[in-house]
Amino acid sequence: MSRLVVISNRVSSPSKRAVQAGGLAIAMQAALSEHGGLWMGWSGKSSGARDPGKPIFREEGRVTYALTDLRRADIDEYYAGFANSVLWPLCHYRLDLTDYARKDMAGYFRVNRFFAQQLAPLLKPDDLVWVQDYHLIPMGSELRHIGVKNRIGFFLHIPWPPPDVFFALPVHETIVRGLTAYDLVGFQTQFDADNFASCLEREGIGRVLGDGWFEAYGHRFRVGVFPIGIDTAGFAQLAQNAVRSGSVRKIEESFRNRDLIVGVDRLDYSKGLTHKIEAFDKFIAANSAWQGRATLLQITPKSRSEVLQYATMQRQVAEFAGRVNGQHGTPDWVPIRYVNRSIGQATLAGIYRVARVGLVTPIRDGMNLVAKEYVAAQRSEDPGVLVLSRFAGAARELDGAILVNPYDIEAVANAIARSLSMSMEERRKRWKQMMDHLLKHDISKWCRDFLEALR
Ligand code: UDP
Ligand code: G6P
Repeated sequence: MSRLVVISNRVSSPSKRAVQAGGLAIAMQAALSEHGGLWMGWSGKSSGARDPGKPIFREEGRVTYALTDLRRADIDEYYAGFANSVLWPLCHYRLDLTDYARKDMAGYFRVNRFFAQQLAPLLKPDDLVWVQDYHLIPMGSELRHIGVKNRIGFFLHIPWPPPDVFFALPVHETIVRGLTAYDLVGFQTQFDADNFASCLEREGIGRVLGDGWFEAYGHRFRVGVFPIGIDTAGFAQLAQNAVRSGSVRKIEESFRNRDLIVGVDRLDYSKGLTHKIEAFDKFIAANSAWQGRATLLQITPKSRSEVLQYATMQRQVAEFAGRVNGQHGTPDWVPIRYVNRSIGQATLAGIYRVARVGLVTPIRDGMNLVAKEYVAAQRSEDPGVLVLSRFAGAARELDGAILVNPYDIEAVANAIARSLSMSMEERRKRWKQMMDHLLKHDISKWCRDFLEALR
C-alpha cells in the first residue's frame, strides 16, 4: 500500500497535543494515527531572521512528523498576512476584513515554495501526497514545478465563497489556478464545490467535463465533496470515561441544580461570538424562569493574536460577556462563564456530556467539528440538544439539530429556550438520527473516501 504524506501549516505537535485547538489538527491526528504516514508542517516557532534549515523529525506510533520553523518575515507575510488576513476573511464572506498587500502575497508563494523544496526530497515514487487547507493552495503547482510526479490531492477545510465574493481578491485567478494543478480537490459541502465550479466557469478558466471532472490550463482534474468527520466511537468513549474523572466531576458539581449550555469556539470572528452572547442575553431577559438556573459556559481559546482583527475581538467578546454578567448576575449566579484558554479533548468531552445544550452558532464555518463532538458525547438515554447555525457545513448533515440563523438574535434566544424544555422523546429521536449518521460518516471514512478517489 502506498504511504500517505500529509502537509499542512498546522501540525498536531506530538508534545502539545492535549491543549491543541483547531479542527484540522485534531482531525488529521485521528486520520493519520489510524493510517500511518509522514506529516509535514510548521513547528509553530520562528527562526528569527535565520534560515530555518532542514526539518526536525520525530516518530510517534505510526506517524513520522517533519516540522520546520519559519522566518519571522515569513510568519508575518504568509501566515498572519495572506493566509489569515486575506484568504480566511474572504472565504468566510468577510470582504470588509480583508487586508490585501502584494508583499504578503509574495511571502505566501515564497513559503509554499519553501515547503515544497523541504518535502520533495522526502518523497518515494508511490507516496500519495495530501495537501491541507488554504495556507497551501499553490503547493501542488510548486511540487510539479520541481518535478514531483506523485498523485497530489488537496482538501479545503474552510468554505469556498461564490464568485462575486472571490473575485474581489486581486489575485483570484492565480489562486484558482493553484487549485487546478491538483489531481483531486476536495471540499466540505456541495455548496463549496458548486461555488468553485462557478468561479471556473464565470472567468472562462475551466470547463466542466461532467461527473466531477474539470479541465483548466490543459490539465484534467477532479473535484469532490468529502465532509470531514470525527472519531465518533472514540469520542463517545472518551466522554463516557471523562465523566468519571475528577476534573469533570468538579465542573459538574459546580453546576449542581443549574442547566449548562456549552459553547466551544476559537476566538475568531467567523464563530459569531458577540451574536451568541447577545442571543443568550435576550434568552435570559425574556425567560425569567431560567434566571439563576441556566449558565453558558463559553470556552474560547485565543487564536491568531498576531492579526489585528483577532486582538480587537479579544477585548470585544470579554466586554460583551462582562456586560451580560453585570446586568443579570446575582451574588450566587454568573450567567456566562467565559474561559479564554484551551481545554484538552478529554475534559472537553466530559463537559459536552454534562451540558444540556450545545450552542454552535458560527456566522460561517467550513464544517465545525465541535457540533459533531457535542452529539457524539451525549448519553443515549438522556441526550442534550444541539443548536446549530445553518451557515456551518455541519448543518448539511446534522438535521436533528435545531437549525438557526445566527444573525437572528431572537430566533437563537428562542431556540435556547426550546432546547431546555424539549421532551425526552424528541431529544432522543433527534440525537439518534444524528448519531447514526456520525457513526457511519466518521473520520476513517473521510480519509478512506478521499484517498480512494485520489488513487
Ligand atoms: N478544541 C480543543 N480545545 C479547546 C477548543 C477547541 O481541543 O479548548 C478542539 C475541538 O474539540 C475541535 C477543534 O478544536 O476538535 C475545533 O474544530 P472546529 O472545526 O469546531 O473549529 P476550528 O477551530 O477548526 O475553526
Ligand atoms: C481552522 C483552519 C485550520 C487551522 C485552525 C486553527 O480549522 O481550517 O487550518 O489550523 O483553524 O487555526 P491556526 O491558525 O491556529 O492554525
